[in-house]
Amino acid sequence: MPLLYITRKEHFNAAHQLWNSNWTEEQNLAIFGKCANPHFHGHNFDLYVCVKGQPNPDTGCVMDLKKLKVIIREEVIDHLDHQNLNLDVPWLSGQMPSIENISVAVWHRIAAKLPVGVQLHKITLWETQNNFVEYLGE
Ligand code: NI
Repeated sequence: MPLLYITRKEHFNAAHQLWNSNWTEEQNLAIFGKCANPHFHGHNFDLYVCVKGQPNPDTGCVMDLKKLKVIIREEVIDHLDHQNLNLDVPWLSGQMPSIENISVAVWHRIAAKLPVGVQLHKITLWETQNNFVEYLGE
């Protein structure tokens, strides 16, 4: 049976600030640039969730993409959209809200909800038109 990879794209808007309180303001601005702005700033995030599996002989599909959409929205988008990632999201609290850390947290939330026979392959999170992170669970 062939193994296939399918991806669902979702979107959210959120605010954050990248700031290490062990550093001086100068160090923070040098490392994080505008992402260290004291009063937060927003991004339009694009989230791609790629799962892998073998197509079900009855449907021809790896999984129902409507179900994947619901999982992503309930586990991730509904928690992050129009929120402040530093302050409003319990499962991100205490972490630097970088796209790296968000991707790892999203991985665990999605992986726990997938149906039997479907595996999470990759989380891709775009923060700007030029910058994105990929996480494959390693
Ligand atoms: Ni930023």
